[in-house]
Amino acid sequence: MAKKHILIGVTGGIAAYKACDLVSRLSKKEYEIKVIMTEHATKFVRPLTFETLSHNPCESDLFKEDLCDPIYHINLAKWADLFVIVPCSANVLAKVVHGIADDLLSTTFLACTCQKMICPAMNVNMYENEVTQHNIQLARQYGYTIVEPVVGHLACNDTGKGKLASVDEIEKEIDAYFKKDEPLKGKHVLISAGPTQEAIDPVRFISNHSSGKQGYAIAKAAKELGADVTVVAGPVNLVDLEGVETIHVTSAMDMFEAMKANLDKANYIIMAAAVADYRPEIIADQKIKKDGNDMVVHLVKNPDILAYIGSHKKDNQIICGFAMETENLDTNAREKLEKKNCDMLIANNLFTEGAGFKTDTNVVTLLKKNETIHLPKLTKEELGYKILETLQELENYASRN
Ligand code: PMT
Repeated sequence: MAKKHILIGVTGGIAAYKACDLVSRLSKKEYEIKVIMTEHATKFVRPLTFETLSHNPCESDLFKEDLCDPIYHINLAKWADLFVIVPCSANVLAKVVHGIADDLLSTTFLACTCQKMICPAMNVNMYENEVTQHNIQLARQYGYTIVEPVVGHLACNDTGKGKLASVDEIEKEIDAYFKKDEPLKGKHVLISAGPTQEAIDPVRFISNHSSGKQGYAIAKAAKELGADVTVVAGPVNLVDLEGVETIHVTSAMDMFEAMKANLDKANYIIMAAAVADYRPEIIADQKIKKDGNDMVVHLVKNPDILAYIGSHKKDNQIICGFAMETENLDTNAREKLEKKNCDMLIANNLFTEGAGFKTDTNVVTLLKKNETIHLPKLTKEELGYKILETLQELENYASRN
């Protein structure tokens, strides 16, 4: 899963030491952290501390000669998903709300287009000064998040508002910022992926060309959107996704059992697997010896997993099937949608360039009960997002009616 990038700007104030704890905590989570400091901040904490905690370089000088990148501030600004200034001194607050860019931190701040969070910390009189209050208001008007300081005993021995919000509080704000991009939080998505293998004997099997890429791409998107995800995967050469429960199976019968065992908890069920329709009636215990004659393998029908799921669908479940076609795509796919009681079906044609097995892209038709949408070529992950977004719309519609 792609880590979210957080740029931490540390300014000169005694609370700079608390930024070390914050960086240490965030680095252990699903975030990548880079730290930049003002010159004054380096008087309180050494850059080496942040480099060690974040496992990334920590810079403070815009014009440092051996800076690895001549436009470091611009690339850093583009890299960041969130810029947090912690602690933010009265001076730096004033600079950044007035567009002053005279060092690495303030220049990068001005170049950043991502969301910005400011955690002020200063003496109570500086904080309550009308100029600072005006600057805080300005920051809010610009859409920056302010994590307000708290009342307490300050390092200068004064008591009042100005103490940096607790590291717990700041960490919570950061987590909450990224969580709002998680519309599937609390949902469970069950996805089948890959082929199945139907053994003939200990050496041979019947299978198909599915790589599992499409199913895994949907799982990745679902995880990114905050869902709990279970993948039931046939034999694939893919690395299990971090944070995704992956159940490995071999045959259609195994996949059927694994899907049934996980059905109850699922809100969205997506059958992207290419399940073998038939299996050998008898699996030989030993390798079948060839003789001079032709060989006949009697095949029996496998259960239709999707049809089973469709016929046991609960009110809180939305079901999405796939269809692999070589002709009459729309007609055949619509037939499957209805027969298997799906809410949505994704149809791909084996003969379309960039579609189907093994590719990183897919070209599909998305069929709902009363709508057919032809989508352009998308990466399998982009398609994953599209499928999940549409399933969510269908769920919202169902809950309103
Ligand atoms: O894995 P990739 O290399 O990325 O390729 C992706 C894909 C081509 C496998 C995928 O996009 C796809 O089309 N998956 C469905 C393939 C398929 O088996 O289609 P079908 O038309 O035969 O089956 C229709 C639906 O019924 C499918 O959702 C299938 O999972 C399901 N099915 C089929 C047979 C069966 N016995 N049980 C089932 O549940």
